[in-house]
Formats: sequence, structure tokens, C-alpha cells
Amino acid sequence: MTQNREAWGSKIGFILAAAGSAVGLGNIWKFPYIAGENGGAAFIFVYLLCIGIIGFPVLISEVLIGRTTQKNPVGAFASLSNSKLWLSVGFLGVLAGFLILSFYSVIGGWTIGYVIETLRGSLSSFTSPEEAGVLFGSLSGSPAWTLGFHTLFFALTMFIVVKGVQGGIEKSSKIMMPVLLSILVILMVRGVTLDGADEGMAFLWVPDWSKINAQSILIALGHAFFTLSLGMGAMMTYGSYMSKKDSVVTASAQIVLLDTLIALMAGVAIFTAVFASGLNPAAGPGLIFQTLPAVFASMTGGVYFSFLFFLLLAIAALTSAISLLEVVVAYFVDEKGWDRKGAVLIFGGSIYLLGVPSALSFNLMADSKMFGMTFFDVVDFLASNVLLPFGGLMIAIFAGWVWSRTSVMAALKEGAEGLFENYPWFEGVWLFFLKFVAPVLITIVLLNSLGLV
Ligand code: TRP
Repeated sequence: MTQNREAWGSKIGFILAAAGSAVGLGNIWKFPYIAGENGGAAFIFVYLLCIGIIGFPVLISEVLIGRTTQKNPVGAFASLSNSKLWLSVGFLGVLAGFLILSFYSVIGGWTIGYVIETLRGSLSSFTSPEEAGVLFGSLSGSPAWTLGFHTLFFALTMFIVVKGVQGGIEKSSKIMMPVLLSILVILMVRGVTLDGADEGMAFLWVPDWSKINAQSILIALGHAFFTLSLGMGAMMTYGSYMSKKDSVVTASAQIVLLDTLIALMAGVAIFTAVFASGLNPAAGPGLIFQTLPAVFASMTGGVYFSFLFFLLLAIAALTSAISLLEVVVAYFVDEKGWDRKGAVLIFGGSIYLLGVPSALSFNLMADSKMFGMTFFDVVDFLASNVLLPFGGLMIAIFAGWVWSRTSVMAALKEGAEGLFENYPWFEGVWLFFLKFVAPVLITIVLLNSLGLV
């Protein structure tokens, strides 16, 4: 079995695919508005710190567990430990992949829907975000529109994953990631050259330390996790296709750099344009689907920028969605002996169906609530706020405390011998953050999500 398991064709292929997983709606939509709301540069400083002391060490552990065992999350824990506890951590990861993809695809569908609306010309006549909001309300209020684009987005995701690790995920990432970066450069240059761009730059870069409090630090921590796709074995699964000749540490550092760079670029592109149009940055979905369409409508050539922007979002969402589906598929292929095609059809199909009530949460099912939340919100909360931090906590504990130090270090040094000779302190620092800092901080995030602290 192991000898004909799939693998990446090249190191750069792995970096681009993993960066594709990391760079998603989290970077382009969520990061800019949480940074804006929580003190701009001050928040960015805290966020970078969280990425450095938690995101990076946990990312290394996830990729390493995958690379060492060459298995999906369930198989990976099964081959490193014989306790049922760790097996169930792997299962929760597969479950989280199931849940996240089901609602992620709904928003991914909206982004494609907005590419189409731009092309149809329906976004070009807005004079205010409120007008753009009316259109957004009627589109997301339509079951046919939300379901139709959920279906289209999901079909694209399945189409890529069915073609396999090299022929589907790697090949498409090698095309989509450069396109994504080029679009972002164009939008950023357009943004900073607009009259009045400096106000947007100030919003993002002038630190307002008075906005930093316990809550904003928790937001930064939680986001550091989500943006790097940690906590459910997505990076473990991608790591399982990685060659033992390459360094896990260097690859993880490159993934972190790309993810952070792209989030910051998105912040610049969005806020320069919003402020130059004299608008206020809104929070939540409103920023992308209401404020920005009004910004583009007021810009010369705005329809081109609008097209590029929603295409950028759609690409970012698609490269993340394929990593979510791959976790579920890898489990059934490795552990249950399914062939890739069957696993994609059957389990992709089930995730798609689970997404249907999420797509209808904005229209037909808007009034069916559990704990005051729609179906969409419940699934999002359960996966993003409970399963991911819990998974991340367990992964840090496993790599830091359960896996023996000799085995972890032997695995980590494979393909990275030079690095550990040149930076002998790295081992101690990594283990310190993994064993002590990450578990404590992630536990606080988890308890906070559950309303316990
Ligand atoms: N990182 C992606 C984003 O920023 C979201 C994502 C994709 C994700 N795959 C994941 C989050 C796996 C957690 C786990 O939008």
C-alpha cells in the first residue's frame, strides 16, 4: 500500500498547495476587518506574535506527523500510538473537515456568484453600500442562487480532488496561486495609488494600543490558527505526501510567510480603496459584499477591479476547499481501501448535501434556529470555535509530550540536518513553545469559545 501512495511532484508544489490551503477567506475577508476593528497595527503586531509562538510551532508539528507516518490523520495517530484517545483526535479532524467544507462551500459559491454578477453588470450602478446591500439581500435570500452556486463551487472542488494529489491538487495550485498573487499585486497597486489612500494606510498601520485587550488577543490567537488551516489534520494530510528529503521547518516557514504576506496585502488593497471612496469599513460579510461593490462602482474601471477581486476570493476559497475535501478522501483511501474516485463521489456528495441547509440558512431556513443560531452558524461555531482549537491543543500535546523526544527530533532532522547544525538553539525553542506556551494559550481560547472564561 505505502509504496504506491501518492506524493507531491516537487517541493514547490507542496508549498503552493499548502499555502493554497492556508490562504482563504480568512486572509482576504476576515483578517482585514478584524485588524481594522481591533487597533490596526497594534492588532497586527499581536497577531504576528501569535503566528510566531503558536501558529508556526503547531504547523511544524502537523506537517511532521503527516510526513513521518505518510498517513491521513486517523492512520497517522494510529501508527504513532496505540491508544484510542489519539485515534479519536484523528477522527475529530476528519469530522471537522466534513463540517467546515459544508459551509465554506456556500460562501465560496457566493464569490463565484459575484464574479458572474460583475460580468452581468449588476454591480456597476451602486451609489452607496446600502444599495449594494439590497442586492446582496436579494441574492443571498434566493434559494436558487445560494444553492446553485454552492453546487457549482462544490463541483469544482470535487473535480480537482478526483484528479489526485499531483494531477489535481498540485497542478491546479501551481496555476491558481501565481494568479492569486498577481491579482493581489494589481489590486494593491491600484489601491495605494488612489487619491486618499493614505487614510486607509493609516487605519491599518497606525497602532491604536487602546484597542488591545484580552478579547482582541483571543481573536488574534484564534485567527492565527484558522488562517494556517491548523487543528484538524489538513496540514497533516498535505504533509503526508511530502518527501523525506525536504525540510519540514523550512517548508513550514515558507507557508507561514506566504500566508502572512497575502493577508497584509489584502488589508492594504481593501482599506486604501474603501477610504479613498470616503466610505467606512464595515465588519463581517458586509465589508466584502456591500462596501466593496460600492467602492468598485465609484472607481474608474471599477468593473475590472471588481471582477479581479471576486475572482481572487473564489480562487482563495477553492484552494482551501480542496484541502478540506482531501482530508476526508485520504482517510477513506488509506484506511478503508476506497479508490479516490469513489471516495470523492460518495463523501464529497455527502458533504455537499450537508451544505444544503447551510445554503438555505440565508433564506428558506433563516428562521429555524438552534440556540439562537441558524444551521450555518451552528456548524461554523462547532467546527471553527470548538473542534479546531481542541484539535490544535491535542496536536501540540502529542508532539510535545507524547511522542518521545528522540523520535520527534529524528523525524524533524530528516531533510533538515544543516539547519539544526547552524541553529542548535532551534530545537529547544520549538519544544518550549510546543510543550508550554501553545497548550496554555490554546486552552484559554477554547474555554473562551465555550463561554467558560
Ligand atoms: N485557512 C483557510 C482560510 O484562511 C481556511 C481553512 C482551509 C481551514 N482549510 C482549513 C481552516 C483547515 C482550518 C482547517 O480561510
